[in-house]
Amino acid sequence: MEKIALFYGSSTGNTEGVAFQIQREFGLENVKLFNVERAKAADAEPFEYLIFGLSTWGFGDFQDDFYYFLSELDQMNLKGKKVALFGLGDQDSYPETFANGLGLLYERIRDKGCSIYGFTATDFYHFIESKAVENDHFVGLVLDQDNQSGQSSVRIKHWVEQVKTAFGMN
Ligand SMILES: Cc1cc2nc3c(=O)[nH]c(=O)nc-3n(C[C@H](O)[C@H](O)[C@H](O)COP(=O)(O)O)c2cc1C
Repeated sequence: MEKIALFYGSSTGNTEGVAFQIQREFGLENVKLFNVERAKAADAEPFEYLIFGLSTWGFGDFQDDFYYFLSELDQMNLKGKKVALFGLGDQDSYPETFANGLGLLYERIRDKGCSIYGFTATDFYHFIESKAVENDHFVGLVLDQDNQSGQSSVRIKHWVEQVKTAFGMN
């Protein structure tokens, strides 16, 4: 059975594409993908490791499917689970709400008894404000497919190695 459940919400396919890449980096056999459009709280139960990914829409809001998934997320028992997060945004067009969805997600689950890993540096991103930043770090992997897609593969590879170590999968 897969070790990791990866839940993602994606409107135009960018986050979904990243979810596929993350799955490949961990090894296809290790990650089960769940599009939050169809996912339920109970889907997370068998897994010790969880990854959540979403894009930011509106003006710094949750991606739509993820927004409707929040009631399921709130019902998930995350106690003792090891969790990592990723978020997509567009730093050029939305420099004041860059990847806010990731920050909103972090706020939503941080007090649910899980351990959250995979924070990353904000170097080489150019934005004014982001709810995804805490103590000068992003609270997960941040990708910008609109302006920095050429950097995404390397960012994903590094992050997956970091998360593997944090999850104790190396
Ligand atoms: C109408 C609209 C609003 C957006 N709002 C934001 C935003 O507030 N902050 C941000 O970082 N990106 C914003 N984005 C950029 C998307 O998050 C980005 O294009 C992302 O890659 C889309 O991923 P998806 O196809 O998985 O939904 C917005 C894009 C659109 C079209």
